[in-house]
Amino acid sequence: MTADKTKVIAMNKETAIQKTVAAHIENFGKNPESIAWAPGRIEVLGNHTDYNAGTVLSAAIDLGHCFCISRSARPGIRLFAADAGQRAGFDLADTGKVPNIGSGNYVKGVFYFIQEHLGQKIDGLDCTSFGAVPLGAGLSSSAALEVSAAYAVLKILGVTLDKKETARLCQKAEHQFAGTKCGLLDQFSSIFGIGHGLIHSDFRTLDVTSVTLPDDIEFLVINPHVKHSLTDSPYNERRERCEQAAAQLAKLLPHPVAALRDVSPEEFAANRSRIDAGAARRAAHVIGEIDRVERGVKLVRNGNIKAFGRLLFESHQSSIENFENSCPELDIVVDAARKAGAPGARISGGGFGGCAIVMVQRDQAQVVSEKIDATCRAKGISPEFIAVTPSAGAVMV
Ligand code: GLA
Repeated sequence: MTADKTKVIAMNKETAIQKTVAAHIENFGKNPESIAWAPGRIEVLGNHTDYNAGTVLSAAIDLGHCFCISRSARPGIRLFAADAGQRAGFDLADTGKVPNIGSGNYVKGVFYFIQEHLGQKIDGLDCTSFGAVPLGAGLSSSAALEVSAAYAVLKILGVTLDKKETARLCQKAEHQFAGTKCGLLDQFSSIFGIGHGLIHSDFRTLDVTSVTLPDDIEFLVINPHVKHSLTDSPYNERRERCEQAAAQLAKLLPHPVAALRDVSPEEFAANRSRIDAGAARRAAHVIGEIDRVERGVKLVRNGNIKAFGRLLFESHQSSIENFENSCPELDIVVDAARKAGAPGARISGGGFGGCAIVMVQRDQAQVVSEKIDATCRAKGISPEFIAVTPSAGAVMV
């Protein structure tokens, strides 16, 4: 998309890395020994399916987090969050929260669980982090921070860890140090992302395959600026309701049901009236989403982008009706995208705020975004537009 008044110029990877290194040298007076970059992600299809052992189509994006470390003779861990200009110090001997700096808890959690997993003490480190993923936009800034911190510290320790294990330790940090009972989608996308394509992750088998998109397809991330924090959102409650639905369906079906993944759309239709009505609506979303992901993969592989796009709109409608994790501002954006002629649009990520994604043909991006912008402004919303490119996963720099 060419530059226009509606587009936010997001900081690219190279600039973000340069800024992080410069901030590290200025703050700690020495060069970093380890520099890692990890991307944020967009969730393209498959909402709240990951912790239900389901499948998701997602992409790592060209916005991410950079993390630098150098060793120090001083005990303890010092963290400079250069984007926020905040500083914190902590010690892994205590499991308490890091005072004054929210992002510090993700870093502390990641170091804590890597130390526990390896049985190798982590101490005496000077760290600098810099996030170039908009915070609270539902683009997984926290997973990008966790994964970049994990990669950087593993390099310092001289250890190679299986990528899936790294994702699990980052997820554990989020569960226990930030309180969100997330699935593995964000960490997997940040680690396994591929340039110019989507990844299809199966959160039962933990297999990841690539799904190539036509060259002329691009994604716009549209932020209507609704505050979003999964920690304060009903995310954990939704997860419990899904587990409740799975447990009730397990008693009704003749085969084992460990998670909603094990219930087919037909089985669900035949049994939904026999389980708790509230839990059934949440399950309807998840079971529908897993089905849409599987149909979506086939459509993309067959080049039927129009039909794939329709699944994105259906997904959003199910978020409104069944999962209730959208909000009026995101509904306006998605409706405006449909009216502007975009093939598909939906909420992306946990929801309860955050961003919508709009799938567009590259040569239509400008005109579609202008139309969405006009519709939103007429309804009192000033949206920000970020054109994101599917990108490779986390790397050492
Ligand atoms: C958040 C969580 C993920 C996933 C999505 C919803 O991003 O961190 O694990 O559950 O919401 O699909």
